[in-house]
Amino acid sequence: MEKLVVTGPTRLTGEVTISGAKNAAVALLPATLLIDGVCTIENLPNISDIKISCEILEKLGAKITWNSKHSITIDTTNITTTKAPLDLTSKFRASYYLIGAMLGRKGEIEVGMPGGCKLGARPIDQHIKGFEALGANVTVEKGKIYGKADKLVGCPIYMDIVSVGATINVMLAAVLAKGTTTIDNAAKEPHIVDVANFLNTMGADIRGAGTDVIKINGVEKLHGNATYSVVPDQIEAGTFMLAAIATKGDLTLKNCITKHLESITAKIIEVGGNVEDYGDSIRVWMDKRPNKANIKTLPYPGFPTDLQPQMGVVLSLGNGNSIINESIWESRFQYTEELNRMGAKITAQGKTAFFEGVEKLYGAPVYSSDLRAGAALVIAGTAAEGITEIYNLQHIDRGYENIEEKFRKIGANIERVTEE
Ligand code: EPU
Repeated sequence: MEKLVVTGPTRLTGEVTISGAKNAAVALLPATLLIDGVCTIENLPNISDIKISCEILEKLGAKITWNSKHSITIDTTNITTTKAPLDLTSKFRASYYLIGAMLGRKGEIEVGMPGGCKLGARPIDQHIKGFEALGANVTVEKGKIYGKADKLVGCPIYMDIVSVGATINVMLAAVLAKGTTTIDNAAKEPHIVDVANFLNTMGADIRGAGTDVIKINGVEKLHGNATYSVVPDQIEAGTFMLAAIATKGDLTLKNCITKHLESITAKIIEVGGNVEDYGDSIRVWMDKRPNKANIKTLPYPGFPTDLQPQMGVVLSLGNGNSIINESIWESRFQYTEELNRMGAKITAQGKTAFFEGVEKLYGAPVYSSDLRAGAALVIAGTAAEGITEIYNLQHIDRGYENIEEKFRKIGANIERVTEE
């Protein structure tokens, strides 16, 4: 079993280069199934979710060549089966994008129910509603999803809930449908714009991504023969920004889009941090104990749920009492118990957590319950006095490229250790 051993406290300083966005890349890879040809994707994060996505595509018949650690060329000319491998698709959430992409490409898909972080109920009713509106028949039986469509026909679709996954998935299914699809009450996250930009580069006609109405004019074919670079990871950037604040550090993040970081920047300023915005890089520093603040997670452009645990570390060290209201996931406060082992004073009740700020955290053995909880514990371990051992690393490795190397480069005393 592997664990991360962090010895603190350390004031993080220096430069970090932000990787390509995980939540964009895990949608771009299935989106290549819509292309009858070859394309190259660059700035891919080197994380386990991407490796699994590539394995799945290969099992479906795609040919993948790794040009470098962050670039692949993928040939989806011959897709030979519509049955996705159950053992691989159950390992992560984004396997649900195979449904939209394969309905578009082949009119058929059989895939296991998606896995991923346990954050409470994660229904896919809005995805199914969208596919059915386009003319597909989707059934869920014994842990498997079966989708079939003789023909997909564009139509207006209103999402009852703002959903990243459903917006992208329906967009994928609509790209090769006949006629025009509009998605109303669409999610607006940067990765939605990225998937639309990718598909448009390959010949799709998608307008309005990044607003709450997306219009997709169906096209006959996507041509491929193009190179696309994945958008920088908003959440990885936010993770390092909050790491700078929690450790009273001074970090400059390269390769980010600061426009995507506005809700985080605003909260950092509210807790007393300093930010210098250079458009494609950002400097964040802190020279005192954070102020108290209240947070409510919301769909983009609100404060992202995927940075809520990392912000929780900052508030656990805050000067006063803070409240976080988690409005997206019902079980995203499991990390608070781990922070309490480290000396934090947090009471979580349902979707609300109350933080009584403490001056210091102390090292302890802790368990990462999900991806972002794991990142929060790395930050907490760096800020805390003494030795923190973080277990359950498979969650962190799903979404952060080389987390210990990136933290070590900015001064953290962090090691990956294999335990018998
Ligand atoms: N929802 C429904 N029905 C649906 C779809 C969603 O009720 O058909 C609900 C969910 O239960 C949730 C809310 O709508 O309460 C929003 O869920 P959404 O569909 O937006 O989430 P997702 O697509 O499953 C993606 C990210 C998550 C991130 C959320 C919210 C990927 C692969 N995952 O999940 O990322 O938290 O959007 O921004 O893109 C992470 O990276 O750590 C992570 C969990």
